[in-house]
Amino acid sequence: MKDLLQTSDLTPDQFHLLLDLAAQFKKNPMAEYGLLSGKTVVLYFGKPSTRTRLSFETAVARLGGIPSTVGPKELQIGRGETLEDTAHVVSRYAEAFVIRTHAHDDAKLVAGAATIPVINALTDTHHPCQSLADLLTLKEAWGGTLAGKQLAYVGAGNNVSHSLMEAGAMAGLHLTVATPPGYEPDETIFANAWNMAKKMGGSLNLMHDPIAAVQGADAVYTDAWVSMGDDEQTRAQRFADLTPFRVTSQLMQHATPSAVFLHCLPAHRGEEVSADVLDGPKSIVFDQAENRLHTGHAVLSALITGKLSAASGVSAHTAKAIALPLSAD
Ligand code: CP
Ligand code: NVA
Repeated sequence: MKDLLQTSDLTPDQFHLLLDLAAQFKKNPMAEYGLLSGKTVVLYFGKPSTRTRLSFETAVARLGGIPSTVGPKELQIGRGETLEDTAHVVSRYAEAFVIRTHAHDDAKLVAGAATIPVINALTDTHHPCQSLADLLTLKEAWGGTLAGKQLAYVGAGNNVSHSLMEAGAMAGLHLTVATPPGYEPDETIFANAWNMAKKMGGSLNLMHDPIAAVQGADAVYTDAWVSMGDDEQTRAQRFADLTPFRVTSQLMQHATPSAVFLHCLPAHRGEEVSADVLDGPKSIVFDQAENRLHTGHAVLSALITGKLSAASGVSAHTAKAIALPLSAD
């Protein structure tokens, strides 16, 4: 496995291995310092970023390397150089290429041309690194358990919900997605995740009723109503359609009393989530943001060293049998 473009590029074992590795880096951040000594990782952001950029830059530093972060205006991409030529060139300098683009096909194009690992830092369709942080955060909040737990995603079907569905399916969660009609997740991504959820003993449901979706949930998740690249002309209509899907303390009352609240951030108080929920005691959004660092660290380390190949052919949920190269303490 060379690249991470979407969560379902991983087997369930590889997914769990990355969570375990991230937990180990969280305890011992400098465990692999020197892995990237004298080496660079190139980060390309075709859209703004706070968490993804800063967490990957920090992870590269913790591996002893140098992050080189660039945008379209700084590269010849902005003057028409092809993505493939850029990927060929970056492959001659760097150990990995982390990219945030609009079209998911552009990320695939780059991965196809690059000879180094390419990591999707968010496209319009997928956000795999976010989903790893999401599931690590849930695992911590739920005392180490993922399989069998109930998660509700309420809001617009988008990149974050797609990756969450793929991750939840691999972890055996019971995930219910509630969107207004017309805002459903991509059908193919949903169908593949539905099959994986079934195989892993979990489930995936789609509905248009936010209260029913949250009923008895152990966690509630939402994301922005307008994603980067969404048509700004439709903003007013999206707000009208999505207002019944706002996560409020009233909605949270339908979840279990110990339910936690997640959001990939950036959040918009008073839009997809009320301020009292986002800033309240159930919110674990900053643990989630911190976990972007540890999971990004794990992804970089695993792809650069080839650690994931050990888990690729192993049947589901046996990742714990694989000796990790780090000690937990
Ligand atoms: N959650 C997330 O990807 O945030 P940024 O856009 O700030 O990187
Ligand atoms: N769905 C959001 C996620 C931002 C991290 C977007 O694509 O803008």
